[in-house]
Amino acid sequence: MITNTELEYKGNLFPAEIISFKLNGDTISFVTKNGVRLKITVLRDSIFRFRYAPEGIFENDFSYAIDENPSSGFNKLEIVEDTEFITIITKKLKCKVARIDLRIGMYDLNDRVIVEDELGFHWEESFEFGGNLVKMSKASIESENFFGLGDTPTNFNLKGKEISLWNTDQYAYGKDLNELYKAVPFYVALHNNLAYGVFFDNTFKTHFDFCKDRRNITSFWADGGEMNYYFIYGPQISDVVTSYTDLTGKPELPPMWALGYHQSKWSYFPESKVKEITSKFRELKFPCDAIYLDIDYMEGFRCFTWNKEFFPDPKRMVQELEADGFKTIAIIDPGIKIDPEYSVFKEALEKDFFCKRADGPYMRGKVWPGECYFPDYTNPEVREWWADLYQELIAEIGVKGVWNDMNEPAVMEVPGKTFPMDVRHDYDGNPCSHRKAHNVYGMQMAKATYEGVKKFIYPKRPFVITRANYAGGQRYTSTWTGDNVATWEHLYLANMQIQRLCMSGMSFSGTDIGGFAEQPSGELFTRWIQLGVFHPFCRTHSSGDHGDQEPWCFGEEVLEITKKFVELRYQLIPYLYTAFHQYVEDGVPIIKPLVYVDQEDVQTHYRSDEFIFGNQILVCPIQEPNALGRRMYISRGKWFNYWDDEVVEGGKEIWVDAPLHKMPLYIKEGAIIPKYPVQQYVDEIEIKELLLEVYYKHGLENSELYEDAHDGFDYKKGRYSLRSFKLSGKLQEISIQQHKDGKYSASYETMKLRFHGLPFEIKKLIVDNEEVSLEFLKIDLKENSLIINKDFNSLQLMG
Ligand code: GLC
Repeated sequence: MITNTELEYKGNLFPAEIISFKLNGDTISFVTKNGVRLKITVLRDSIFRFRYAPEGIFENDFSYAIDENPSSGFNKLEIVEDTEFITIITKKLKCKVARIDLRIGMYDLNDRVIVEDELGFHWEESFEFGGNLVKMSKASIESENFFGLGDTPTNFNLKGKEISLWNTDQYAYGKDLNELYKAVPFYVALHNNLAYGVFFDNTFKTHFDFCKDRRNITSFWADGGEMNYYFIYGPQISDVVTSYTDLTGKPELPPMWALGYHQSKWSYFPESKVKEITSKFRELKFPCDAIYLDIDYMEGFRCFTWNKEFFPDPKRMVQELEADGFKTIAIIDPGIKIDPEYSVFKEALEKDFFCKRADGPYMRGKVWPGECYFPDYTNPEVREWWADLYQELIAEIGVKGVWNDMNEPAVMEVPGKTFPMDVRHDYDGNPCSHRKAHNVYGMQMAKATYEGVKKFIYPKRPFVITRANYAGGQRYTSTWTGDNVATWEHLYLANMQIQRLCMSGMSFSGTDIGGFAEQPSGELFTRWIQLGVFHPFCRTHSSGDHGDQEPWCFGEEVLEITKKFVELRYQLIPYLYTAFHQYVEDGVPIIKPLVYVDQEDVQTHYRSDEFIFGNQILVCPIQEPNALGRRMYISRGKWFNYWDDEVVEGGKEIWVDAPLHKMPLYIKEGAIIPKYPVQQYVDEIEIKELLLEVYYKHGLENSELYEDAHDGFDYKKGRYSLRSFKLSGKLQEISIQQHKDGKYSASYETMKLRFHGLPFEIKKLIVDNEEVSLEFLKIDLKENSLIINKDFNSLQLMG
């Protein structure tokens, strides 16, 4: 029985009418009659932050998600009052705050509704834990659709779904499962060609309901913490996603080799097995850049140790692999084996770095090594210590990258698969329970790892991959979608999850190609490689319990086809690297769902199979067995079929042939696609000539090519090369203008331009405004190609 009269109000509580408000710099603070406070901060003309304090007291303003230096600044901030509303006006938005109940409405400057609060902010006291469950509900416009939320394994369009975010080790997860490895509480909404985003920066378990419970209401809430969210206006989805990525941060460029093909398995051991695998790649001339060591390389699964029976001389092995073009990546988990003889354990214990339960004892849990304690990565001193542990692995042994796993954190054989909620964390000087720190635990581990790898690999670039993450974690690490299954449904999920992660700021992502659990058929493996080579991160990994998963294990045909696709990835590395550059500089997703590139076309709103790789390649994987082709939607505009140069007009669904050795691939007309020769690993050979595949267009199209030293940080000092190409095509003419930025000069002197779909025979050539003979540019009229100095300013071909 509840006797405390205060508690009789169990249920939702709401703000009362506004009694005062005040503008201070970029922030407007409101106070209501029942003591609720709201702070609205204008970060940019199109980005507003909302923070609510039901009892009038704000928490310390600290966020792991927000980048240290997001671009901010607005052009206008005006406040207009009338009897009903206090309206904040910027160059892009109007935000109306209702005097009577603090409800918010967001409008564009033409007073079109972007989104209005339904109940708006409300809260419920959490009797069990203290604090409040903080809630928000907004009216949804009839045609509204929703996208985003990290790695959620459900339909790409989130309308009609209820999803919660709580990092969880979900072995062999299935479609529609809630609570996977990552928490990215950011979604994009689209209606009437207006897009906006909501980033709910709350690390407790968060929940989202996209018109499921009530068909016209979208709501989001959290099990604690603050109602603290960012409203990001578009009107283009691309504006929303790039602004969100700017707010939560962009990574540095990865080393170029990390864009190659990676091979992994749980586990390759002993050393002879590792060598057998890597030699086979070279023998078969199947390109590969990285080989992974899963937990069995360690001594009894103790992190930062080596099993000397399996790996007697790791340094020598790693060096030999490197000489053969293989970068070694080693796994490191958070669980530290309880073993008084083990130096990492002893040190952490001495320094008091392990997580503790509320009443004092250490947080003890079972993972691969047996009973473990767990470092509190939310403590900056622990992160520093953890970073230094990588010295031997990276600086001495020569391992090139680190793979962080089980960092949800995962605990075996306990309900909830993780820490009990009372475990205490430092949270960078804001002590809290596991309820608040859970979703950032993996992110902070990856951050510490990134700092360590970076320190010891310098002047080269670090490579880190993590399973668990939180919004903003893209600043430190790449990621993969965890323990998937070798089924056709998982191939479809893989496609959707990577598009979703790319929309959620985490472009450097991929899946376990072929499936982690169970065994793919040769056909499934082939189709998965075909998709995987178009994902920013491309790695085959499997549990090993169900048979082998190297490309040669499925017979000749599969080997031949998968090799051809991996070779295509290697040829497209300069194109992919340019997409990485656009991601790192401007937050542009490396792959883009169709709705991202053409939101005006409503056909794209429920499309999830087709996507754009970079800016100009339309990809559609085959996701069913026995397919000889499929129907797919071609985005608006004209596209060249990659395989035969046939031009199709988009804006419709068509049948595309795709027997096992092909997949539907289209190149945007007017595109200039750079290609390197096939290499067995990145930088195997010095590039002597760059190939540019030029696709004719009657009209204009821009393309880019970014290059630098492929590794190191000189690119930050201006030693990069950014070429932009402007193609302009007429009936009897095609011209290309080139503009180059940056101080880097590539190894090659010439470019070979190969023209596709030219509607005329080349008769006349003009280079930098001077006519040259056809022979001068070594023209090959059969394949319509010519060779030109890389630094030409303009080129004109005429019929
Ligand atoms: C987890 C990881 C998987 C790894 C395994 C053993 O299941 O998700 O990738 O192989 O642990 O370390």
